[in-house]
Amino acid sequence: MAISCKFIVFLLCFSSVSFFPLNSASSEPSEVDILLSFKNSVEDVLNSLSGWSNTTSIHHCNWTGITCTATFPQNVYFIDLQSLNLSGEISPSLCQLLNLTNLNLADNLFNQAIPLRLSQCGSLETLNISNNLIWGTIPEQISQFKSLKVLDFSRNHIEGKIPESIGFLQNLQVLNLGGNLLSGSVPEVLGNCSELLVLDISQNPFLTSEIPSDIGKLVKLEQLFLQSSGFYGQIPNLFEGLRSLSNLDLSENNLTGRLPPIGMFLPNLVSFDVSQNKLFGPFPNGICEAKGLTNLGLHTNFFNGSITNDFVKECINLERFQVQNNMLTGNFPSWLWSLPKIKLIRGENNNFSGEIPDSISKAVQLEQVQIDNNSFVSRIPQGLGLITSLYRFSASQNNLYGDLPPNFCDSPVMSIINFSHNYLSGRIPELKNCRKLVSLSLADNNFVGEIPQSLGDLPVLTYLDLSQNNLTGPIPEDLQNLKLALFNVSFNRLSGRVPFSLITGLPASFLQGNPDLCGPGLANPCSDDKKSRQRIGNLSRLTSALISIALVVVVIFVAFGVYVLRQSYKQKSQEGSWKLVFFYPLRITEHELMLAMDEKAARGHGGVFGKFYIINLPSGENVALKKLENFGSQSSKALKTEVKTLAKIRHRNIVKILGFCHSTDSILLIYENLARGSLGDLIGKPDFQLPWSLRLRIAIGVAQGLAYLHQDYLPHLLHRNIKSKNILLDADFEPKLTDFALDRIVGETAFRSSLASESEISCYFPPEYGYAKKATEQMDTYSFGVVLLELLTGRQAEQSASTDSLNVVKWVRRKINIKNGAAQILDPKISHNFQQEMLAALEIALQCTNVVPEKRPSMSEVVRTLQSINLRTSLIKESSSSEESSVPL
Ligand SMILES: *[C@@H]1O[C@H](CO)[C@@H](O)[C@H](O)[C@H]1NC(C)=O
Ligand SMILES: *[C@@H]1O[C@H](CO)[C@@H](O)[C@H](O)[C@H]1NC(C)=O
Ligand SMILES: *[C@@H]1O[C@H](CO)[C@@H](O)[C@H](O)[C@H]1NC(C)=O
Ligand SMILES: *[C@@H]1O[C@H](CO)[C@@H](O)[C@H](O)[C@H]1NC(C)=O
Ligand SMILES: *[C@@H]1O[C@H](CO)[C@@H](O)[C@H](O)[C@H]1NC(C)=O
Ligand SMILES: *[C@@H]1O[C@H](CO)[C@@H](O)[C@H](O)[C@H]1NC(C)=O
Ligand SMILES: *[C@@H]1O[C@H](CO)[C@@H](O)[C@H](O)[C@H]1NC(C)=O
Ligand SMILES: *[C@@H]1O[C@H](CO)[C@@H](O)[C@H](O)[C@H]1NC(C)=O
Ligand SMILES: *[C@@H]1O[C@H](CO)[C@@H](O)[C@H](O)[C@H]1NC(C)=O
Repeated sequence: MAISCKFIVFLLCFSSVSFFPLNSASSEPSEVDILLSFKNSVEDVLNSLSGWSNTTSIHHCNWTGITCTATFPQNVYFIDLQSLNLSGEISPSLCQLLNLTNLNLADNLFNQAIPLRLSQCGSLETLNISNNLIWGTIPEQISQFKSLKVLDFSRNHIEGKIPESIGFLQNLQVLNLGGNLLSGSVPEVLGNCSELLVLDISQNPFLTSEIPSDIGKLVKLEQLFLQSSGFYGQIPNLFEGLRSLSNLDLSENNLTGRLPPIGMFLPNLVSFDVSQNKLFGPFPNGICEAKGLTNLGLHTNFFNGSITNDFVKECINLERFQVQNNMLTGNFPSWLWSLPKIKLIRGENNNFSGEIPDSISKAVQLEQVQIDNNSFVSRIPQGLGLITSLYRFSASQNNLYGDLPPNFCDSPVMSIINFSHNYLSGRIPELKNCRKLVSLSLADNNFVGEIPQSLGDLPVLTYLDLSQNNLTGPIPEDLQNLKLALFNVSFNRLSGRVPFSLITGLPASFLQGNPDLCGPGLANPCSDDKKSRQRIGNLSRLTSALISIALVVVVIFVAFGVYVLRQSYKQKSQEGSWKLVFFYPLRITEHELMLAMDEKAARGHGGVFGKFYIINLPSGENVALKKLENFGSQSSKALKTEVKTLAKIRHRNIVKILGFCHSTDSILLIYENLARGSLGDLIGKPDFQLPWSLRLRIAIGVAQGLAYLHQDYLPHLLHRNIKSKNILLDADFEPKLTDFALDRIVGETAFRSSLASESEISCYFPPEYGYAKKATEQMDTYSFGVVLLELLTGRQAEQSASTDSLNVVKWVRRKINIKNGAAQILDPKISHNFQQEMLAALEIALQCTNVVPEKRPSMSEVVRTLQSINLRTSLIKESSSSEESSVPL
């Protein structure tokens, strides 16, 4: 027998040798030929294998991706060609490399069925063709890969059932079929692959399978990944067998029933995830506790034949525990809270009860706890503030009670705390140490006392919700220092003046249900003098009543005065009565508006429809006013509806309408005012100088604002008057569109005739403007293109009327056709480093200003293209930041 076997081997060797004729007796050239023949069947668009050649002097063991055995004769042992965008055919000729053990072709573009003929590679142990375009089913003949230890077919398009024959792969240690299109049920026979360490069948949404109970036989299995596939039914009794398990992920399936008993300890367990299923019932004892022993009250475990006294010792490695989004009940496993390596505990959206023990301070690595929406009955543990790695603790919608410990927010990395909808009481302690706190929600508890002053010192606090408590006293002035996005103190018993920026500034403020708060826009105006208010507070009820009567008298007197003034103003101006509508709390009356609109406040020519004014409000804020006159006869109701439509727009690149004021023949639109004025004014300055990155950002902002009006806002709107003068810049040079969609307010006829009354057609209007019946998005796109040309050239669109110089569109069109013209168009004040990016933007500007409307891109395409240019610009910026930053702003 032995002799005949040797004979066969000899024959095989001989045949392979004779098939690839050799120059010499050495096996090295033969390996070269084998590799070249493999290369021939592969398409290598990136030329990664250009070094694979029989004309170079480089030994093939030193070719890209090749590793040889260390001992002589050196033979190819490992071929690693991952991430080279290879396609074509995976040729089985490789199998003639007698020592080939490891083949990695992951992250390529091979588009074929599973390369079954590689099973002829007698010494192949690792085959990785993850993340290619492999299709078709797994054939029964997969069992021919007898020598394989690692098989990675993940992230391809493999479909069909997993064949029973997979059970013959007795040497398999890693089987990864994740991220495919497998269907049907997973065969029990996987339990025969007794060497398996890693089994991954995750992310196969078309599977409809129960979890094979034989998986529980895989005593060596360390990692079991079955998440986000179609597993349903009960989890079989796995855990008793899987005693080497370190990572378990069964999340996002359709698993139901109770969790199986976990009698055996899982000493290596690092991650346990059964979240997002339909599991119910209690969490089983035993995962880290002795089965039954808890009933005896003994903290002793029986494990590996010996008794241990430390009952958490066996889960000493657990880091992540996730059971959220199920229907689990009963006591939350209490041993979890004090594990030395635990980082993540998630159990939200179940019905767990239980307590959070003070021993939580032993969980020295804890980072994140989410147990919202359960039935925990517990105090907030005193130990919470001792965990220095904790950055999130959310336990809303439970039955937490008692005081907040003074150190509850002492972790230096704490950023999210949510204790809302519980029964916590007492005062809110001062928060001094959690400098990274972003979100604090204590809503709907029974807190009393004042809002802690120290909240105003937390530099990144952004969301603050203290609503539905029993808080008293004033809102601390210091909260104005914060950049809040949400501020909710509704339904408390707060009193006093609301800090101004919390009413008028950015945060969505919720103040209602505090009858004693006062301030502009609230039901209670404050008396202007704070000190006198404090005195009022100290006086007896009788005196304060007297004073309020006196105040009423004063108010009546003032109102009368205003009335008289208004009457006289009306007579003077012969205008109808003014009606004021605010969308924001502003402290100004119609009358004050009228008085403020004197010539001193007028800015610019105001464009087509009348003048622009900048007005200082008594509060110290500035607003911009636009006065529209002599427009068509919109009914006042229709008018309000239209202005409200525009006022509801909320976009970072569109100016807010704060309110409006109208009489029979005029409308005043009240806009927010921006620090740096208009882009048009900026470009008009003789020393105009903005770095390219900023110009590009402005262009992107404007394009985003327009894309929002065109496509995202309902109703879809057209701007109809894009020009650099209608682009305002805030302190950070963020652009905002103003003067938008006025046609909706004044009506189409008035809008057109007003534009027509301009002395000449502006170069911002597209050529079809004169004859087109309807306004279109493409017209806005054209105007945007002109603005982009201004940014690229640094030239104003239209020079002042006296000089008969060309407008920017004509100027560019003349230059573009001459040799190297494009480069001459670009603003010479910007460094050559950015030429490529500026030319790419010029290309867009030219597309936008195409004379054929249909050829202009949509604004969302423009946004995308500009953003990709921005990406490249930012790379250059890093390498030449000195140039950019040296430009004065
Ligand atoms: C290199 O290989 C090509 C084809 O694979 C063959 O035609 C040529 O003769 C070889 N050259 C040498 C020097 O072996
Ligand atoms: C591969 O290259 C290294 C360094 O360039 C050299 O030391 C080594 O001898 C080469 N191996 C072979 C097999 O030629
Ligand atoms: C590789 O191919 C992918 C998909 O076709 C493509 O997106 C990527 O740009 C290619 N990589 C290179 C470096 O060409
Ligand atoms: C390479 O393969 C030959 C033939 O199968 C074998 O005798 C030799 O031991 C292998 N070398 C290594 C380092 O595995
Ligand atoms: C296969 O290759 C991919 C890409 O490099 C890698 O992420 C993966 O871990 C490899 N698979 C195995 C089982 O080593
Ligand atoms: C799996 O193992 C069982 C018993 O150990 C055996 O009867 C069966 O033939 C095996 N199946 C495969 C496909 O190896
Ligand atoms: C889960 O099971 C239910 C019924 O048993 C079925 O309607 C649903 O489609 C399943 N969901 C998934 C993601 O498989
Ligand atoms: C069982 O426990 C003993 C003593 O604690 C230890 O030496 C041995 O390695 C353990 N055996 C296994 C298989 O864990
Ligand atoms: C708020 O406090 C007052 C007075 O202490 C008390 O009467 C009232 O019940 C409390 N309200 C709530 C909702 O706890």
